[in-house]
Amino acid sequence: MKQQYPFSLPPLPASYDALAPQLNGCTLYFHHDQHFVAYVETLNRLLAPYPDYQRWSLEQLCLEWRQLPDEIRLSVRDNAGGVYNHDLYFKTLAPASAGGPSGALKDAVMREFGSLQALRTALKAAALGQFGSGWAWLVFDRGGRLSIQKTANQETPLPLHPLLCCDVWEHAYYLQYQNRRAEYFDNWWQLLNWPMISDAYRWDA
Ligand SMILES: [Fe+2]
Repeated sequence: MKQQYPFSLPPLPASYDALAPQLNGCTLYFHHDQHFVAYVETLNRLLAPYPDYQRWSLEQLCLEWRQLPDEIRLSVRDNAGGVYNHDLYFKTLAPASAGGPSGALKDAVMREFGSLQALRTALKAAALGQFGSGWAWLVFDRGGRLSIQKTANQETPLPLHPLLCCDVWEHAYYLQYQNRRAEYFDNWWQLLNWPMISDAYRWDA
């Protein structure tokens, strides 16, 4: 997300009903149009009195929040992270297909996890093992090495490069799945936009 202040809400990549039955329209509406937009609007409100920091990119706000004034430091960290994390979450969803990673990402998954199923198992363990609100991630480092990460609340995995993320805040699934986080994960996994994710696996050597 290459945005700067004032941040805006990216549109859903599909209609509210296009990701059903894995994620129904009600769940998507509340998650995208109520929760995600709240992070965007709050971040803009926090930065409104601070022209110097309005020039920072979203990634810079996520990475360098410790340099911000005391009165906005933690709130900017939380809300910039909320914007960054949700942008990737929604961007990498598409109507269900049986696809998987391709090209260099497919090769890296096979090399580092042994199979796509093994990657899925490791990511699911992270998603189910995240205590309370947070995220499970597939990321790569500056050398292209893949790993699974967990973050709490709205922390990001930056400066690692995220490829995909499972939102395990209850607001992401409770309307449809109640406390069945594992079932949510299984269905969310079917919605991953592997062409987009595979294309994002690139870096400057
Ligand atoms: Fe969320």
